[in-house]
Amino acid sequence: MTSASNALGGVFQLTADRQVGRVGFGAMQLAGPGVLGPPADRDQAVRVLRRAVELGIDHIDTSDFYGPWVVNELIAEALRPYRDDLVLATKIGAYRDHEGAWLPLNHPDALRAQVHDNLRRLHLEALDLVYLRHTVDRGIPLADQLGALTELREQGLVRAIGLSNVSAEQYQEAQRHAEIAAVQNLYNVVNRTSADLLAKTAAAGAAFVPFFPLGSGFADSRAREDDVLRGIAERHGATQAQVSLAWLLRRSDNILLIPGTSSVAHLEENTAAVGIELSDADIDALSGLVAEGETLEEAH
Ligand SMILES: NC(=O)c1ccc[n+]([C@@H]2O[C@H](COP(=O)([O-])OP(=O)(O)OC[C@H]3O[C@@H](n4cnc5c(N)ncnc54)[C@H](OP(=O)(O)O)[C@@H]3O)[C@@H](O)[C@H]2O)c1
Repeated sequence: MTSASNALGGVFQLTADRQVGRVGFGAMQLAGPGVLGPPADRDQAVRVLRRAVELGIDHIDTSDFYGPWVVNELIAEALRPYRDDLVLATKIGAYRDHEGAWLPLNHPDALRAQVHDNLRRLHLEALDLVYLRHTVDRGIPLADQLGALTELREQGLVRAIGLSNVSAEQYQEAQRHAEIAAVQNLYNVVNRTSADLLAKTAAAGAAFVPFFPLGSGFADSRAREDDVLRGIAERHGATQAQVSLAWLLRRSDNILLIPGTSSVAHLEENTAAVGIELSDADIDALSGLVAEGETLEEAH
């Protein structure tokens, strides 16, 4: 169990008997280009995973979608036997076709099969946290999808249920059918479109786990040219990535970070974001970049 003294960025109570540090690791970038196939450098991917645990990370976000299967296999290879305090969170509700497209696979039987596949590939007897990647376009009621997950939870194969890529309305509906421990949606300093979900999860005591916490590196984003972000980073002797993560940690106590990287140097840099103490003026300036509910693109 993570103790308050060594948790990265503080502790969050994920479930009644499970705590995690607020800085975790998103493993998606460990697959090959386009999240397809094996990484160019398998040894480096294994090093990233082992370094993450060494740095105190106790929450790794993964899925059979990544590769597909490659990332779960890498995790098992790199980290078994798993530390008792390591939370592996996975996602179900989709598959990749031969061209890499992400397609829905939400029938309750398919969801059950995906849980068993994740268990087998990760060599686990129970999955700590399983996100349902919800899609509405196939007419399968959310209640039925959550029903399958609830059964698996009662069988002891799933410890906690999460939702991914949902609207605030879908989250509220889901809460009527199951206990939702976490929601994973896009949110970062320049994209606040899931602000309402952040507020609703905070009110419910559930985790909010932003994907693309770095806006996927801000590689193509206007944020890289943003004077506010750059200026604050320079003043703190930090990188823009670190400032963006530090802002998320201050934004709401229920935010858990899962920045993704395939590099040990970036992993170390991202983890060190816990040491950046943004002033209230920094927070105000960063928060003011984009209105909650909007993205930077909409704001310009
Ligand atoms: N639920 C969903 O639908 C969903 C969707 C997408 C992602 N996810 C999850 O969210 C996690 C995070 O998302 P993500 O990895 O796509 O995006 P991200 O964390 O926003 O950014 C990752 C990108 O930023 C780069 N990067 C990382 N650290 C950096 C640093 N310190 N300086 C400069 N560049 C840096 C990485 O490149 P390098 O490899 O070169 O460091 C990579 O290209 C994923 O790993 C996955 O687990 C979930």
